Formats: sequence, C-alpha cells, structure tokens
Amino acid sequence: MRLMAVFLGLLWVFGVHVNSAQSPEMELKCIVGETVTFPAGVRRRGYLLKNGLDIAVISPLHMLCIMDNTFRDRLQWNSSTGLFSITGLKMEDEGEYEVQSSDRWHSPSVFQLTVYNPVSTPQVSSRNKMKPTCSVLCSVENGREVTLSWQREGETLNSTSSPDLNTPLSLLLKIEENSAPYSCVATNPVGNKTVRPEEVCFGGLSHDAVLYVVLVLRLVEFVLVTLAVLLLIHLYREGRVLTQQQNE
Ligand SMILES: *[C@@H]1O[C@H](CO)[C@@H](O)[C@H](O)[C@H]1NC(C)=O
Ligand SMILES: *[C@@H]1O[C@H](CO)[C@@H](O)[C@H](O)[C@H]1NC(C)=O
Ligand SMILES: *[C@@H]1O[C@H](CO)[C@@H](O)[C@H](O)[C@H]1NC(C)=O
Repeated sequence: MRLMAVFLGLLWVFGVHVNSAQSPEMELKCIVGETVTFPAGVRRRGYLLKNGLDIAVISPLHMLCIMDNTFRDRLQWNSSTGLFSITGLKMEDEGEYEVQSSDRWHSPSVFQLTVYNPVSTPQVSSRNKMKPTCSVLCSVENGREVTLSWQREGETLNSTSSPDLNTPLSLLLKIEENSAPYSCVATNPVGNKTVRPEEVCFGGLSHDAVLYVVLVLRLVEFVLVTLAVLLLIHLYREGRVLTQQQNE
C-alpha cells in the first residue's frame, strides 16, 4: 500500500502521463500560416503532446522546453495565461494534441487539429448572354471539404462538392436580369469566397465596347507619334538652316 502511494507520488512529481478516462475531443480548424492557441492552460508544470508524443514540457521554473524540432521556432507558451500556441501552421501540424497539466491534475484536454488551405475565389463566365436570362458557369479550384454553391437572398439554389481534388468544381446557372442578386460562393470549414455574376452578364463593358476603346487608343497613339516625327523633322530642318546661316 505504501509502495503504491510512493509510486503514485512519483507519477505525480514527474508528471508521467496517465491515461485517464478519455475526455471529449475538441476540434480545431485552422488555416495554413495562421496561429492556433490550445484553450487549455498549464500553470507551472505540464506537457504538450502530439499524437501521443511529448513535443514540449513546462518545468516548474516556468521554462518551456521544446522537444520536437519541427516546432523549434513556432511553439510558444504564454506564462501568464498558461496557453500553448503554434504559429505559422503547416499541413503537417495536423493531428491530435493533448495539453496535460501536472500541477492541477485535471484530466488532459485533447484537441483534434485540422489545417486547411484558404478556399479559392470562384470565377464566373457567361455561356450564353441571351437577355433576359443568361447562363453563367461558376467554377473554383477544388480542395478538402470545399463546396461550391449558387445563392440568392440566402437561399441555396444549387451546390456541388467532390472528393476528386484534382478536378475543379463547377456549376451552371441561368440567371435573370432584374432578379435579386445572385452570388456564387465557395466555402470550406475555415472560410468562404463570393463572386457576383451580374457583371459578366448584364453589366460592365461588353466585348464590343472594349474593342472600340482599344481602337480609339490605337488611333490617338498613331496621331501622337506622327506629330512627334513631324516636329522632329521640322526642328532638324530649322537647325540646318540656322547652321547654314551661321556658316555664311
Ligand atoms: C500572454 O497573454 C496575455 C493575455 O492574453 C497577453 O496580454 C500577453 O501579451 C501574452 N504574452 C505573450 C508573451 O504573448
Ligand atoms: C445543379 O447543377 C447541376 C450541374 O450543373 C445540374 O445538372 C442540375 O440540374 C442543377 N440543379 C438545379 C436544381 O438547378
Ligand atoms: C462567409 O464568411 C463570413 C465570415 O467571414 C460569414 O459571416 C458568412 O456567413 C459566410 N457565408 C457563408 C455563405 O458561409
């Protein structure tokens, strides 16, 4: 019995990780490059584990010791809050993290960290500009848990997603002029990006207008260059006349 007590005492002193009852996991979803802070504090002595392996220890002297070199410059421990943070998140940082606090002997806190790329901005292109309706294709680079949808006034008109990450997602929609504005939205668990299709269908400069502007600009350029050349020829002649007069 005494031996047992001593053993448990040693466990406590050295903060050996005891598999206590599984505490519920908390999911943390973050974007590549950002910082994650695990919301479980270590006051004086404790550990941070990733997938069951120690990556950092806090000693009673308030010292952070990082044991895993991949976290050498990216792991921080705030001694006033007791919270661990990882900066500059990478895909490889995904995994199960556990904050163990030996000084309070409460059950470990377990976090499932998932790291996502930011979702790409969808692109819209018109397929058929037959007023008053216009067919618009919206597409976006696929990625993990990316969904592409057409929305109008908060209502989802159509949506798509695919496990094949190499093929872009795309959705065709017939939109009506004078309708409430449509938006094409790409979302993943860490964000969303929206585009409005009206511009490519009903607004903005039409292709003809762009051609016209380009033509006018070319013409102006031609006139300016011609004037400059004429001016140079004129100056050159004047100069010759002047030098001839001086020579006489
Ligand atoms: C620790 O956290 C506190 C409270 O959030 C903050 O004011 C302080 O700047 C942090 N210290 C460091 C070194 O990040
Ligand atoms: C949703 O989009 C798909 C693919 O573009 C199309 O086949 C389907 O008919 C659309 N559904 C609706 C309700 O518009
Ligand atoms: C897109 O993200 C913003 C916050 O960045 C959020 O307020 C909005 O509800 C999201 N929209 C959709 C359609 O998920």
